[in-house]
Amino acid sequence: MTFPSRVHITDVGPRDGLQNEPAPIAATDKLALIDRLLDAGVRHIEATSFVSPKWVPQMADAAEVMMGLKTAERARALEGACISVLTPNMKGLEGALASGAQEVVVFGAASESFSQRNINCDIATSIERFAPVVAAAHAAGVATRGAISCAVGCPYEGDVTPRQVGHVAALMRDIGVQRIAVADTIGIGTPLAVQRAMSAALDHYELPMVAGHFHDTYGQALANTLACLEMGIARFETSIAGLGGCPYAKGATGNVATEDVVYMLHGMGIETGIDLEHLIDAAWFISGRLNRQPNSRVSVARRRQ
Ligand code: HMG
Ligand code: MG
Repeated sequence: MTFPSRVHITDVGPRDGLQNEPAPIAATDKLALIDRLLDAGVRHIEATSFVSPKWVPQMADAAEVMMGLKTAERARALEGACISVLTPNMKGLEGALASGAQEVVVFGAASESFSQRNINCDIATSIERFAPVVAAAHAAGVATRGAISCAVGCPYEGDVTPRQVGHVAALMRDIGVQRIAVADTIGIGTPLAVQRAMSAALDHYELPMVAGHFHDTYGQALANTLACLEMGIARFETSIAGLGGCPYAKGATGNVATEDVVYMLHGMGIETGIDLEHLIDAAWFISGRLNRQPNSRVSVARRRQ
C-alpha cells in the first residue's frame, strides 16, 4: 500500500475550533493562536468566518482578526501561507475580500435538514447563493473551497448516503468551486463509510482537490484519516488542541487534534512541514486561555513525560 509522501494540513482551530466557545475570546488571543500555528510551520489556517454575528457570535470579530494579520511582522510570517475564511453569501464575501483572505469557503451540506439549520436555506438555494460568491472570488484572484457537511451522518436525519455527497459535490463543481472538503460534522463516521463518502466526492473532483474534515465525537477521526490516506487523499482539515464543534450540530465535539494527526503522519514517515513541539505549545496556549487541557492525546501525553 502506498501512502502520500506529504500531507497538506489546514488548521481550522481559530475558526471551527473557536466558533462554538460560549465565552468571548479576545481577538488578540485568536491572533496569538494564529502566530503560534505559523511558528509551528502550519501554512494554511482557517482564521475566521464572515457570517451573521447573530448566528455565530464568536465570529463577530472577523474583520478585527483579519486586520490584526496585517502588521508587518505577521505579513512576513504569512508569506506563502494561505488564510481562509468562511463566506456563506455575498455579504460574507465582501467582508472576506476587504480583509485580504486568500481563500474563501462556501459551506453546504449533504443533508437538507442540516443545510436548513446551519445556513437557513435548502441545498439548491445554497448553491444558488454560492455561485456568485465563487465567481466573484475567482474574479478577485481568491481561491475557493466548498465544505460538504454531514457527509456520513446528520444530527437531524441520521444516515447520509454517498449518493447525497456526490450530488452536492457535483453541484459545487458545476459552479466552479475549486476544492472540496468532505466533512463528518458530528464525528460518527467509521472508516468504510468515510471511504464510500470520499469515493462519491472523487467522482466529481480530482484526488488532490479533496480534503477530509473529521470531527472526533465518537473517537473515529484518526482511523478515518488513515482510511483516507489509503485512498491517496493528502489534505486534511484539523483543529489545534482538538477544539471545535458546530453550533448547529448539537453534541458534536471538536475536530481531530492537529497534533494527533501530525504525530501519526510523522510516525508513518509522511511529511507535513510542521514542527510537532511548537504545535503542542500552540495547543497548550489556547487551551490555557480556555481554562482546560488540550483535547489531544498527544499534547497531554507530551506534557506528562
Ligand atoms: P439569514 O438569517 O437567512 O440571512 O441567515 P439574511 O440574508 O436573511 O440576513 C439576516 C441578517 O444577517 C441581516 O442582518 C444580514 O445583514 C445579516 P439584520 O438586517 O437582521 O441586522 N447577515 C450577515 N451578517 C454578517 N455577515 C454575513 C451575513 N449574511 C447575512 N455574511 C446566514 C443566513 C447564512 C447569514 C446565517 O445562517 C449564517 O450566518 N449562518 C452561519 C452558520 C455558521 O457559521 N455555522 C458554522 C460554520 S459551518 C461548520 O462549522 C461546518 C464545517 O466545519 C464543516 C463540518 O464540520 O461540517 C465547515
Ligand atoms: Mg467542522
